[in-house]
Amino acid sequence: MSSVTTDHAPLAELDEWDDFVATRYKQGKAEEEFRNYRADANPTVTEFYRLNHANQTLDFILKKKAEFTSLTRGAKSIWEMADYLNTLVDDSDPDTDVTQIEHLLQTSEAIRRDGHPRWFVLAGFVHDLGKVLCLYGEPQWAVVGDTFPAGCAYSDQIVFPEFFAANPDSKVPEYQTKYGIYSPNCGLDNVHLSWGHDEYIYTVTKNYLPEPAQYMLRYHSFYPAHKHGAYRHLMNDHDEKMFEWVQKFNPYDLYSKGLERPNVKEIMPYYQDLVAEFFPAKIAW
Ligand SMILES: [Fe+2]
Ligand SMILES: [Fe+2]
Repeated sequence: MSSVTTDHAPLAELDEWDDFVATRYKQGKAEEEFRNYRADANPTVTEFYRLNHANQTLDFILKKKAEFTSLTRGAKSIWEMADYLNTLVDDSDPDTDVTQIEHLLQTSEAIRRDGHPRWFVLAGFVHDLGKVLCLYGEPQWAVVGDTFPAGCAYSDQIVFPEFFAANPDSKVPEYQTKYGIYSPNCGLDNVHLSWGHDEYIYTVTKNYLPEPAQYMLRYHSFYPAHKHGAYRHLMNDHDEKMFEWVQKFNPYDLYSKGLERPNVKEIMPYYQDLVAEFFPAKIAW
């Protein structure tokens, strides 16, 4: 488990993390059962979390934010990036596994069927485009994974909390108090979450989407907060209000995968219109 490639990509495919989360929160599962998540994690998922928790230091997060949130990787359309993300096929079986675009469309189509506003459907369609970070050469543990704040004490509501012992930040006393480098109810906008596809797609799209959609994208992997109520002491009243949207979004992300494969050809005109309604032809990535 120490070769460079394993460290970079312990998961056979990126979706193994999504599948693990979906299993963890399987519909009808009781809260106590969730605590048995270790039983749902195969060795590669466990190794993935070990790497994620050991390497997501505050310093690393700040470096990645500086590297990627200035959006200097060129102007591309949403469609170019969706096609690009689709090249991420890993070892998946094309007969059973849906493509990345199909996952996005399954999510957005489920939202559309429930009659939600167009911006909500669009949020579903773009929510995982940040996974292109993987194609930029970023390690899996810096692209996916449940997100958590750095620079303050780790909540026991984060999965595999024992792996934080290997994170250098756990030896920095200033980072291990309840508030750490933050102040009470300072607002999540001032908090540095572990780096990954949420923060990246939020940054890319924030100028074009309404605020509830921005929250959905930015915090959709922040399970300790939106599923378990952790880190309320860092959130302000506005975050609390906006998290109702994050919670409304989550079931579509978790449970739309098993649905029928979308008829891409048939629904494409709707999505062409939808994307063009909110986004210019090209945006900065
Ligand atoms: Fe995601
Ligand atoms: Fe997703």
